[in-house]
Formats: sequence, C-alpha cells, structure tokens
Amino acid sequence: MSLDKKRMLRTLNGETLARPPFWLMRQAGRYLPEYREVRKSSRNFLEFCYTPDLAVEVTLQPLRRYAMDAAILFCDILVIPDALGQKVEFREGEGPVLEPLRSLADIKKLTCEAMPAHLAPVFETVKRLSQEIPGDTALIGFAGAPWTVAVYMVEGRGGTDCSNIRKWADEAPEDFQALIDLLVETTADYLTLQVKNGAEIIQLFDSWAGILDENQFRRWSIEPTKQIIERLRKSCPGVPVIGFPRNVGKRAEMFVTETGVDGVSLDQDQPLDWIAETLQPKCTVQGNLDNQVLVAGGQELDRAVIKILQTLGNGPFIFNLGHGVVPETPPEHVGRVAELIKGWPETAKSIS
Ligand code: CP3
Repeated sequence: MSLDKKRMLRTLNGETLARPPFWLMRQAGRYLPEYREVRKSSRNFLEFCYTPDLAVEVTLQPLRRYAMDAAILFCDILVIPDALGQKVEFREGEGPVLEPLRSLADIKKLTCEAMPAHLAPVFETVKRLSQEIPGDTALIGFAGAPWTVAVYMVEGRGGTDCSNIRKWADEAPEDFQALIDLLVETTADYLTLQVKNGAEIIQLFDSWAGILDENQFRRWSIEPTKQIIERLRKSCPGVPVIGFPRNVGKRAEMFVTETGVDGVSLDQDQPLDWIAETLQPKCTVQGNLDNQVLVAGGQELDRAVIKILQTLGNGPFIFNLGHGVVPETPPEHVGRVAELIKGWPETAKSIS
C-alpha cells in the first residue's frame, strides 16, 4: 500500500481527515488479558523487551482487537540507560529501579559504543513489525527525551520529588550537560536505527518536562529535543516526529515553535479550545482524553470523546490519551472509543 494511504502519515503531513487516525499511548499492556498471559513467560521485563517473538506479539495484540491506525513498538524508554551500561531493573509492583548517577565520574563510566549491538533485538522487532502490521497501519518508534531519561538515571526511580536532578542541573549545569549530550547522541543514533529498520514515525516522550521552569525547560527539554530532531532529519529525511512535553501547560507553544516537531502530543490538562486556536495552526496535534475517563466509561466517556473530535477534528489531529492506558482500564472501554472514532462523524448524531 502506498504510504500516503496511511492516515497517520497524511495527518502528520498537515492534512485534515474527515475521520482522524487514532492510537493510544501504552496500548499494549497489562489491561489486556492476552498481554498478561504472554508477559508470564518472562520474569525480567527488559528481557521481555529484548525478545523479538514476544515484543512483536504484544505490539500486535491491541491492533487485533481495535485496529488502531498505528502500532507502537513494544519496548521501554529505559533501554537507553541499560545500553549505556547503567544497572536497570524492573521490580514487580515497584517499577523501574536504577543505580543512580551522582557525579561526573558516574557519567564518564557510561559508553554509547555498545548501544547498536545491545539493542539489536529491538531493531529486529521493528523490522519484523514493519513486515507484519496491516498495510494501512503506521509503525511508531520511540525513545524517552533526554531530560525524562535523565530523571530516572539520576533519581534511580520514578515518583520522587526529583530533588537530586534539580540540584545537579542547577548547581553544576556543565557537568549535567555532559549527561544530556550523551543522551542526545545515543538517542539520535538509536532512533536512526529504528527508522532504518522500518519505523515510520518517531515519538519522543518527555513525561517529566513539567517540573522545569521556563529557562530550564528551554535548556533541558527544548534544546536536546531540537538537536535530536536535527540529527534525525539528516540521517532519515522526511520522518515525522511527535513530541510529548507532558504537564507543561502553555509552554507547549514554545516547544512547538522552537523544536521543529511535526506533531505535539498533549496531556488532558490542556484546554481543547486553546489547542485548536494556538497549536493546531502550527502543527498536528495529538491527544488528549483523560485516561481516568477511559477507566470510568459510560456516557461520560462518550461525551469526552465526541467533544475532543468536535473541537480538534477540523484540523490535523490524531486521537490519543493525555497519558498512557492504565492497567485498571476495562478493555471494552477501549473498544467503545475505537467504535466512536471509526464511525465519526456519523457517531456524533447518536450521542446526546
Ligand atoms: O505504548 C506502548 O504500548 C509501547 C510500550 C511502552 C512502554 N513504556 C511499555 C511498558 C512505552 C511507549 C513506554 C514509555 C515509558 N516508559 C515512559 C514514557 C511514557 C509515560 O508513561 O510517561 C516512561 C516514563 C517509562 C518508564 C516506565 N516503564 C515505568 C515508570 C514503568 C513502571 C510503571 C508501569 O506502568 O508498570 C515501566 C514499565 C512498563 N513499560 C510496562 C509496560 C507495558 C509495565 C511492565 C510490566 O508489564 O510488568
């Protein structure tokens, strides 16, 4: 099928489609019984990500149920610290735990040379997926943005007050810059290899961008993102990039203007009218259903989906969540969202 038949690529090229494309962040995961079943075969989550047979299978699972317009490679943002030689572990019920970096000497111990070989199974997964996904479905590759990956590398886990990384970035910015530079270089090479193996779109997750003030946001989120995009445009011309600067409020506008992203993914706190008026004239927008409304379901879910489609559907738009699908989500609620979008715009008439 010619590439321009893929809704995702058309939309990211600036086209407005009568029926917008949709996919969901974390569309593969624990809310699906078939995921939990496959997941049992590997105790170690990184090993699971590095086993192409399993990673291909769980990437395809949500497509079989809901026929999203995009598949997102099944992997994790923390394979980069793992490939750089930092100790990374995923603990049951606890999430990721890393041996935290605390000094320039710790950064200097990391090396990017082993990345292509270490992550070869991920590239193999991408290659197989590009051959196996349906012809009208686009394949999204991804990485964490340097700031967000650095948060885990320095804090050692998620969900902290980020006091270590804030202190480091404020008090010794030149040292901290060495870590960001290493991540820019490694991430750009990693994404280039994903594209060379068949990824058609790249998404950069900056889940922790919201804790930065304006100057910090420019230096630690916008600037590294811009550098990765510039490198990618040289190595892989024409590949669209979606940025996800989560919880940054109105600073999403400077993110769009200054990074050169083709699309911006927005969290559920971003007002729909503001997105339509301010961001959509500048780039394709993606979002932003509240993942808790997806858990709740019912009329509230129907109304929220329709409202998003009505407000953002008149310009280049990709339907998604404001953050990932959570494990408590009833799978049939995802089915309802798929039904509402696929029937759009006729479905609007059936909802009061
Ligand atoms: O979207 C997809 O379906 C593709 C796969 C994907 C995963 N993680 C799989 C995963 C993607 C795109 C990610 C991105 C990711 N990983 C982010 C950025 C997006 C966001 O959520 O903010 C971050 C911060 C991580 C780091 C991470 N990975 C955490 C904090 C956790 C633990 C929390 C949790 O949900 O379990 C993970 C583990 C993880 N990554 C799981 C999955 C499916 C669950 C692990 C399991 O099955 O046991």
